[in-house]
Amino acid sequence: MADYVIAIDQGTTSTRAIVFDKQGNIVSVGQLEHEQIFPRAGWVEHDPMEIWRNTREVIGLALAKADITRHSIEAIGITNQRETAVVWDRTTGRPVYNAIVWQDTRTQDIVDRLAADGGVERFKDTVGLPLATYFSGTKIAWILENVDGAREKAEAGDLIFGTTDTWVLWNLTGGANGGVHVTDVTNASRTLFLNLETLEWDEEILAAFGVPRSMLPEVKSSSEIYGHAAPASLLREVPIAGILGDQQAATFGQAAFGKGEAKNTYGTGNFLIFNTGEEIIRSENGLLTTIGYKLGDQPTHYALEGSIAVTGSLVQWLRDNLGIISSAPEVETLATQVEDNGGAYIVPAFSGLFAPHWRPDARGAIVGLTRYVDKRHLARAALESTAFQSAEVLQAVNADAQVPLSELKVDGGMTANDTLMQFQADVLGVPVVRPVVAETTALGAAYAAGLAVGFWKDLDELRANWQEDTRWEPRMDESERARRLRLWGKAVTRTFDWVD
Ligand code: G3P
Repeated sequence: MADYVIAIDQGTTSTRAIVFDKQGNIVSVGQLEHEQIFPRAGWVEHDPMEIWRNTREVIGLALAKADITRHSIEAIGITNQRETAVVWDRTTGRPVYNAIVWQDTRTQDIVDRLAADGGVERFKDTVGLPLATYFSGTKIAWILENVDGAREKAEAGDLIFGTTDTWVLWNLTGGANGGVHVTDVTNASRTLFLNLETLEWDEEILAAFGVPRSMLPEVKSSSEIYGHAAPASLLREVPIAGILGDQQAATFGQAAFGKGEAKNTYGTGNFLIFNTGEEIIRSENGLLTTIGYKLGDQPTHYALEGSIAVTGSLVQWLRDNLGIISSAPEVETLATQVEDNGGAYIVPAFSGLFAPHWRPDARGAIVGLTRYVDKRHLARAALESTAFQSAEVLQAVNADAQVPLSELKVDGGMTANDTLMQFQADVLGVPVVRPVVAETTALGAAYAAGLAVGFWKDLDELRANWQEDTRWEPRMDESERARRLRLWGKAVTRTFDWVD
C-alpha cells in the first residue's frame, strides 16, 4: 500500500490538490486561482479549459512539494464547487460555452416559466429542491436555449453535461479518448433532476426542462473506483475512487457521519449541512433536502442543507469593489478596531437570498448608516453578516430536526478569523468548534477515495483522526443576542422586492 491519497478540490475561486497521509494530515498543497468572469450583472462564469489546465498543474505542484511521484499515491478523490454547469462536445472535448457558476442568476426567466405551472416547489417532493437559479438544471437549459446549434447537437448525442467533478474526471481519465462520464450521488442531487429515492434521473423533469437524457453522466456512489488516470497524466494508472460535492465532502471530512451531526463551512458562501441518516426529511423551514454520501453499495445518507450564497465573497467585494481593505485578512484587523458595528448591517443579497429565505427578488443593502459609521464598522458588519446568516440557517435546522444542535463544527478559510468565530458562538448561543485539520473539504474527498481502495479500513478509523483544535464559547447575554438578531431580521426585509 502506498503512503498517501491525493484530493483534487475544484472550488469556486481556485483549484487545489492536497496530499494526505494516513492520519489525515496535510503533506503538501498545490493551488491556483482561476478567473471570475462577470459578463453582465448577475452573470458569473468560469473557463472550463483554464480549470482543467490548473487541475493538471496543481497536481504537479502538490507532488513536487511532497517530493513524491504517482507511486506514493494509492487513490485520487475529487471534490468540487457544486451546481456549476459545463456542457461540452464529447468528440472534441471543447466546452460549447463557459461554465455557468452556481452564483449566476441569469436563469430566473427559466425558473419563472417552469414555476408558472405548479410553483417553485413543483418538483420538490422528488428532488428535495425548490426551482431556483442556483441549481445546475436551469443552467443546462439556458445553454441549450441560447448557444447557437447547442440543442441540435445535444439531441444528436454529441454534447454532454457535467458539474466540475465530472469535467475533471472525464479529462483525467482520457477526455475524448475514453474519458469516464460519471458523477456521484451528491453532485447529482444538486441538478434538480435526481430522484432522491431511486437515485435515477427523472424522465418527466428532464422533459419539462427540455434536457436530453443522453447528456447526463452516469450516477455512481461517492466511494468506488470510477476509472484510472490516463497515460498522459502525472498520476497515470492511479484509481479515482471518491467524489463528493464540496459541502458534503466537508461534512465527511469533519467525520459527521451519523444522524444528527452537522458542520458549517465558511467559503465564498456558507453551507450548513445536517446529517439526517437514512431518512429523507423534507424541510418546512427553507432548507434543501440533499444527499450526504453513499459509500459503494451501502445505504444512502441524506442531509438537510442551509446554503448561503455570499459570506467570504463579501470580504472579496470589500477588497475588490470598494477597496476599503487591500487583503482579505485585513478585514479582521479593521473590525477589531471598533467594539461593535456602529448600528450598520450589511445584507449581501448579491444573488438574491438563498436559505432560509429563497428570495430571488432581493438585492444587497447596507442599512443603519449614520455619519458615525466608518470603514471599521463596515468591516465588522461584513463579518457579522456571515454569522447572522448562519444563525438564521441554524434556527431553521433546529426547527426541522426538532432537537436543537448543542454545538457547531466549523471549517473553511474564514474560521481562521477569531473575531468572526467568537461572534458566531455569541449569536448562536452554542459553542463553535474547529478541528485541527480545517481543510475538511479536501480531506473528505480523500477519505471517500481511501475507503474505496482499503487505504482506510472503516469510518471508525476516520473518526479517530478528528481532533479538536479550538472551541469558542458563547459570551453574549440572551437579551443582547435577541436584540441583534431582531435588527438583523429587520435589515433582511429591507432587501426584498428590489428586482422589478
Ligand atoms: O453550492 C456551492 C458550493 O458547492 C460552492 O462552494 O467552497 O467553492 O464556494 P465553494
